[in-house]
Amino acid sequence: MASNRIVSWGNDKIEWSDDLLLQIEPEDEDHREMFALMNRIFTTARLGADLVTQAAGDLCLFTREHFIREQRDMERAGYPGRDAHRYDHEYLIFQLDALIERLMVSGPDYVADELVDLLKRWLCDHILTFDAAYAEFLRERG
Ligand SMILES: [Fe+2]
Ligand SMILES: [Fe+2]
Repeated sequence: MASNRIVSWGNDKIEWSDDLLLQIEPEDEDHREMFALMNRIFTTARLGADLVTQAAGDLCLFTREHFIREQRDMERAGYPGRDAHRYDHEYLIFQLDALIERLMVSGPDYVADELVDLLKRWLCDHILTFDAAYAEFLRERG
């Protein structure tokens, strides 16, 4: 499965798309940063497992901070969908934690496909559904 190793992906990084913009700050800025951190996992892959694990840890840390910030803002705004949104955050963190644990045990080569797939789905789907619905609520409220 050598062709599926992170190290061979080259330019196959997760690209930011402006379709993901919610036109709300600091949301958009945070999401961009999360993409940058995801891409660092891939750019550090050829430099060894330690750096990949560190990059994954940085992504995890920033993501937790982002989710806490977002949940606090939803709470303040009285957003009715905040509980479901928070559950999705918790599920995402659970998935990311499990993946990082496996990264640490097995090394980056073994979770390459799963990692890119999870990261893409993980962040893009969440932004396009849960975060977009929250942004819509804020816009409607004015
Ligand atoms: Fe969110
Ligand atoms: Fe978000």
